[in-house]
Amino acid sequence: MTRPLLISPSILAADFARLGDEVRAIDEGGADWVHIDVMDGHFVPNISFGMPIIQAIRPVTKKVFDVHLMIAPADPYLEAFAKAGADVITVHAEAGSHLDRSLQVIRALGKKAGVSLNPSTPASVLTHVLDRLDLILVMTVNPGFGGQAFIPAMLDKISEVREMVRGRNIDIEVDGGITRHNAADVVRAGANVLVAGSAIFKTTNYGDEIRAIRMAATSVSA
Ligand code: DX5
Ligand code: ZN
Repeated sequence: MTRPLLISPSILAADFARLGDEVRAIDEGGADWVHIDVMDGHFVPNISFGMPIIQAIRPVTKKVFDVHLMIAPADPYLEAFAKAGADVITVHAEAGSHLDRSLQVIRALGKKAGVSLNPSTPASVLTHVLDRLDLILVMTVNPGFGGQAFIPAMLDKISEVREMVRGRNIDIEVDGGITRHNAADVVRAGANVLVAGSAIFKTTNYGDEIRAIRMAATSVSA
């Protein structure tokens, strides 16, 4: 099953003083989703923002809010993120002791459920929760910071995940160090949702960069 290619700019790299305008700019620039990185200074060594910021930018765009929770525990906050405006809620496999339950809760809230894998986390943690999943996020850097270099060893993991989900209605997302230069590689390996933070927000024309990443990615899938 070929999944649609989606570009999900990460607002972690945006200018927070003008966040509403930044979200509007990626919307108008052709972003498919908006990737929202929530960090707690505990699961990852950095703190970003939480529900009030998501709620504040919710009226700015109709695009899917792709909320990546780098927090542990995540379960106590799932409902609050759903209410703040998340459409996809992704938790890390290690965020709690009961991944199956977390995924059930996200779907019961009417949201799409995702699981994120750190670079050192094996794909096998997903084997028994595939029925509960809408999205698998393969981290291509260690989570916590934007602007890091893509880890090439993750290409094999993306391929492995693609084999696991074959025939299922599950998106494969990649996050970390994604640029127009490696977009083709990750799509060839099996990814269909590409997160990019610095590559988009550190340029002057977001639309041009989104188009360049999309063009590089579709040169493979076409
Ligand atoms: C890292 C975050 C990423 C990050 C990606 O922990 O999950 O979404 O913003 O940023 P770039 O594209 O700059 O690597
Ligand atoms: Zn992310």
